[in-house]
Amino acid sequence: MKEPDCKMLSGLVGADSPSHSDRVSPTGRTEPHRTTTHPKTAHGERPSAGLRDSADAAEIPRDLGGGAPEARPLSRGQAEQSREVRCSVEVVGDSVLLPAPSPASPRPARLSHALRPRPACQRRSPPQLQHLCPGHVCSWLASSLDPRASLDRRAARCWSSAVASWAGPDTGQENNAKVAVLGASGGIGQPLSLLLKNSPLVSRLTLYDIAHTPGVAADLSHIETRATVKGYLGPEQLPDCLKGCDVVVIPAGVPRKPGMTRDDLFNTNATIVATLTAACAQHCPEAMICIISNPVNSTIPITAEVFKKHGVYNPNKIFGVTTLDIVRANTFVAELKGLDPARVNVPVIGGHAGKTIIPLISQCTPKVDFPQDQLTTLIGRIQEAGTEVVKAKAGAGSATLSMAYAGARFVFSLVDAMNGKEGVIECSFIKSQETDCPYFSTPLLLGKKGIEKSLGIGKISPFEEKMIAEAIPELKASIKKGEEFVKNMK
Ligand SMILES: NC(=O)c1ccc[n+]([C@@H]2O[C@H](COP(=O)([O-])OP(=O)(O)OC[C@H]3O[C@@H](n4cnc5c(N)ncnc54)[C@H](O)[C@@H]3O)[C@@H](O)[C@H]2O)c1
Repeated sequence: MKEPDCKMLSGLVGADSPSHSDRVSPTGRTEPHRTTTHPKTAHGERPSAGLRDSADAAEIPRDLGGGAPEARPLSRGQAEQSREVRCSVEVVGDSVLLPAPSPASPRPARLSHALRPRPACQRRSPPQLQHLCPGHVCSWLASSLDPRASLDRRAARCWSSAVASWAGPDTGQENNAKVAVLGASGGIGQPLSLLLKNSPLVSRLTLYDIAHTPGVAADLSHIETRATVKGYLGPEQLPDCLKGCDVVVIPAGVPRKPGMTRDDLFNTNATIVATLTAACAQHCPEAMICIISNPVNSTIPITAEVFKKHGVYNPNKIFGVTTLDIVRANTFVAELKGLDPARVNVPVIGGHAGKTIIPLISQCTPKVDFPQDQLTTLIGRIQEAGTEVVKAKAGAGSATLSMAYAGARFVFSLVDAMNGKEGVIECSFIKSQETDCPYFSTPLLLGKKGIEKSLGIGKISPFEEKMIAEAIPELKASIKKGEEFVKNMK
């Protein structure tokens, strides 16, 4: 992540600062531009701009401009420079945007980020974001969707309006992920595509399905965010959908009906996943492949074998998306303990079906304790949460909205890591050497090239050890089934 070159300086602008002329909003309407009318404090100082009043400043992470200490009085040199640039000062809402000359080597004010003409769409971003450079805002907002991040809820509330605000030329180079969704018209595909379209991390969204993609793409394309959206329909359009992609997410396939196991989907979904991943191997072999289609315990080995067949296999770039298990575990633990689910993190390892789903409650942060009977019930609920939704939907499918959320969380983490953000960790079902199962889910450190390293299983309780031992035979069987399927494919 590039360091920002803009900082906010407080107390620079006097009431004599020039007002700007009216400006045009992204919708084409002319909005009156507010001039500086900052009231003075009891000490005669002007309050800091934007969120720099005490309550709000505390809620912006310090490294993103939050916290009072960054607002500082001007040195003489800075004051001189501020006089020079006064005509370029930008005032929006309660915010004052000013260049931040470096005391060591003052830069010509004209080159300052904050002085560049701002596109109208940026100017209407919420006041509390005005003093942040686009790269920071993007990563801050992306993080705000990550429930593990200890960021204030206010960031999440800013999400949609701020996302809509950051667009165009000043958006950082790094926020340019090209993402394809295969199965985009389905119950998961549509809300997942909506979340991706709403993200500043994504610049191009290509949507593929065997039905309805022109409509889904037309609908999404009207949303006022910068990602371009295009629909692709039918196998002949699949190559164009995939070319140039950085990330491919695959929720294509049939979902469960009441009474079905995930493995019951194998016959239909194995062929769908094998066909789609073969196209990925041909047309975007370098892309990160995120498989949502069930049974994940088999569709990941299928994907790996298909990529091997095409001679482009890279185990660091093939992910079985199990994030929904983590999301559910966090939610259920939070419910039982009266915690904010956004601040709970339960690693879930193993696989993605019934007893192969192994929540490590002993590693939960914050630390939580349950009596054994409550623990057993909790783990059972996490393992059968998908079935809970299938039953509640009574034949109308399986989890779609929570899965779309979980899929988006995983993609955003992946893209963050690809952009160079450090310390990004997600669990995922991958090629693994942690157990004698060739594929296994553990917490992973993600990086620019996919999986940087597996963080392993860590210290676990005897109960969790037993769960792993019980899961391994089923996991091995599902993996073998997937591998055999590809070997026997004509
Ligand atoms: N990994 C998880 O945690 C998780 C959670 C929930 C559901 N799932 C799985 O996700 C899959 C999709 O679920 P859903 O509820 O969105 O199903 P859905 O039936 O609503 O949507 C599936 C979509 O895939 C499309 N499709 C079918 N064959 C295709 C092909 N050959 N190429 C491209 N698209 C194709 C369909 O047209 C449809 O639009 C299911 O396999 C389900 O079991 C996984």
